[in-house]
Amino acid sequence: MRLEINQVGKQYERNRWALNEINLQLVPGIIGLLGPNGAGKSTLMRILATISKPTKGTALWNGIDIAKHPNELRSTLGYLPQDFGVYPHLNPVEFLQYIAALKGLNVRYMKSRILDLLELLNLHGAIKRPIGSFSGGMRQRIGIAQALLNDPRLLIIDEPTVGLDPEERIRFRNLLTDLSGERIIIFSTHIVSDIEATADQIAILSQGNLLAKSNPSQLLSRMQGKVWSVVISEQELQDARSRWMISGTIRHEDGMLLRIVSDIPPLPHAAQVSPSLEDAYLYIRSAQEEGVG
Ligand SMILES: Nc1ncnc2c1ncn2[C@@H]1O[C@H](COP(=O)(O)OP(=O)(O)O)[C@@H](O)[C@H]1O
Ligand SMILES: [Mg+2]
Repeated sequence: MRLEINQVGKQYERNRWALNEINLQLVPGIIGLLGPNGAGKSTLMRILATISKPTKGTALWNGIDIAKHPNELRSTLGYLPQDFGVYPHLNPVEFLQYIAALKGLNVRYMKSRILDLLELLNLHGAIKRPIGSFSGGMRQRIGIAQALLNDPRLLIIDEPTVGLDPEERIRFRNLLTDLSGERIIIFSTHIVSDIEATADQIAILSQGNLLAKSNPSQLLSRMQGKVWSVVISEQELQDARSRWMISGTIRHEDGMLLRIVSDIPPLPHAAQVSPSLEDAYLYIRSAQEEGVG
């Protein structure tokens, strides 16, 4: 099972690439697509979900071009779009039956599948309630349930943690881990900590470009020796902000404790600290900004 993305680009308007020459080879596991708003995450995901076609390049599912033969993939695809609407008056079972019917799934077999999914997603306590009364986290889980109806080999979830509270975020991460196995899961986010604990692979997108593809430990080891900690006085903070890439600030009893990302020690007394993915993300993105000018 593999998904190969070769030189994929997308233009919505002439002379402007929303997505630019993306190359990625994906195998079973969890891939986190990380990038700020407008980076092209949803554009890439819609192409992979066969909702839109690339302007250039190809995506191959087990060697078959998904733009030319979308049905090969569609039968085994689960997709949760970024803006996912529900029918507020339906209860979860009715809603999932409706989606199953739309997808042409065997409704008989679906009854037990739906109950299993509601159990897996911890929604079995709310079976009789209209979806309109659900919290953000519960709605998101219904969205994931509909994506899982056909037990997909490729699961694409676009910004699933938006609108979740911290507890729901943690629950979502655990769910992702439970769902991984013999499938490729691609999920997008602009929040580094969503990715930290779950993703086997990280792809960083910005302004339509793929800035990095790596596993978390490789990203961290590349940052080794580039993250520093210094204490400065509050008066020096403004100056420090303009001079260094600061990835964290904590008020300290004798001033401000700064976390600085820098190739060289920012100050003679700076102490090296172990890097985080947040530092790596900042470093990679600022390198791009400098390159662009
Ligand atoms: N349907 C569309 N028509 C025109 N431009 C679009 C469309 N969808 C997205 N874009 C543009 O493409 C770029 C990437 O958007 P998107 O893929 O939604 O990014 P992300 O999901 O990372 O926030 C943005 O500049 C956005 O304005
Ligand atoms: Mg998006």
